[in-house]
Amino acid sequence: MRRVQGRERKDPVDKRTIAEPYKIKVVEPLRATTRDYRAEKIREAGYNTFLLRSEDVYIDLLTDSGTSAMSDNQWAGMMLGDEAYAGSRNFYHLEAAVQEIYGFRYVVPTHQGRAAEHITSQLRIKPGQYVPMNMYFTTTREHVELAHGIFYDCIIDEAHDPANPHPFKGNVDLAKLDRLVQEKGRDAIAYLSLAPCVNMAGGQPFSMGNLRQVAAWARRHGIPIIFDATRAVENAYFIQQREPGYAGKPVREILREMMSYGEGCTMSSKKDNLVNIGGFIATNNEEFFVQAKEMVVVYEGLHTYGGLAGRDMEAIARGIYEMVDDAYIASRVRQVEYLGSRLREAGIPIVEPVGGHAVFVDAKRFLSHLPQEEFPAQALAAALYVDSGVRGMERGIVSAGRDPVTGEHRRPKLELVRLTIPRRVYTNLHMDVVAESCIALYGERRAIRGLKMVYEPKKLRFFQARFEPIVP
Ligand SMILES: Cc1ncc(COP(=O)(O)O)c(C=O)c1O
Repeated sequence: MRRVQGRERKDPVDKRTIAEPYKIKVVEPLRATTRDYRAEKIREAGYNTFLLRSEDVYIDLLTDSGTSAMSDNQWAGMMLGDEAYAGSRNFYHLEAAVQEIYGFRYVVPTHQGRAAEHITSQLRIKPGQYVPMNMYFTTTREHVELAHGIFYDCIIDEAHDPANPHPFKGNVDLAKLDRLVQEKGRDAIAYLSLAPCVNMAGGQPFSMGNLRQVAAWARRHGIPIIFDATRAVENAYFIQQREPGYAGKPVREILREMMSYGEGCTMSSKKDNLVNIGGFIATNNEEFFVQAKEMVVVYEGLHTYGGLAGRDMEAIARGIYEMVDDAYIASRVRQVEYLGSRLREAGIPIVEPVGGHAVFVDAKRFLSHLPQEEFPAQALAAALYVDSGVRGMERGIVSAGRDPVTGEHRRPKLELVRLTIPRRVYTNLHMDVVAESCIALYGERRAIRGLKMVYEPKKLRFFQARFEPIVP
């Protein structure tokens, strides 16, 4: 409350627009193209938005991975890169930032997240062991399977229902964990892989309450928790906003508490850490650290650079401090919600609640005339590009790939188009352009045809698969 001319009233500042906590110093021009041009480009790209050239894209919502705008402080840090082969000063800055903000003692840099996943999976999984995860992520599961591990989904059922408004759809179902231990025994489990703000579920967070229960369960069974910490700060923000007892608590403290329940993490710095390249393994387990250091030399580079330049490590170190600024993270997640609210108001089916990094359009309901075998999410992403030059990506049956045992398509319940918002890159007017294009397409959705796959890579097929429209 504020006293105004002797009267007390609710502070009007509470209700005002909150702007981005930064101003723009450098701009990059965008190129608009015609509809005919885009129709030709998507045909050339085999109806796969991953195969478009970025110069042909107007607003790029393919991914939030490596697409962040860095701050002046990060760019200044790039100039202070110590490009020594061994013992670069920037490595020690990175190590200190991870220790202070994530709370893990040992740090091994890698060139990006999947390299950290590769090393972790190879070292921590014995052939035939299970790795329970709160839903899957494409590269994480791929590395588990390459290490002859078996993925086991332990996320709550609500996460598979796009319309379910559960505030913490990233939560783990403890009954599913119990069932696995009862059926297979404790030794059949390598570790628990927990992802904050679960990407494939729509960027959905887990609650601290659930995490505490899972950690107690894991301790009881002697099973370590290794986080995929890629979007942990966004998860911490949702805990601050939604979970009793955390309102007003700095995101930095919430993140630290979350990480305290794990033995370590793999990390794709290309997301939360606000950089264009990088990743790391962090752990409190000294034995694993020593093994990871030995292995990183084979695949990435010396353990004090892990495939990164000194300047990259400096940018990550500085990004780690910037990401836990409460004003920044609030503005980032609110922008995602802004786009979600525009689509929701227009009646477009989206995954609810809107997650931390992307709005996921429910292609199953949007294109209810197309069966899943005709790749509705792939078709919708292609149609959106043709309509407006906005690039999203498929997260459905194509991304799910084939079952390694039966060779059949995996059929996920979620058939989604992901509109992923890069950090600090676009304004809300760009979001309006995206929303208008989705609304226009929704009006003419019956005209969108299904696709057939004409080229299918064996691994992570969504990146390079090619399609053609089904001619009636
Ligand atoms: C949840 C999650 N884990 C791991 C990765 C892999 O990280 P990278 O792309 O840096 O290899 C990603 C990337 O999109 C991700 O979203």
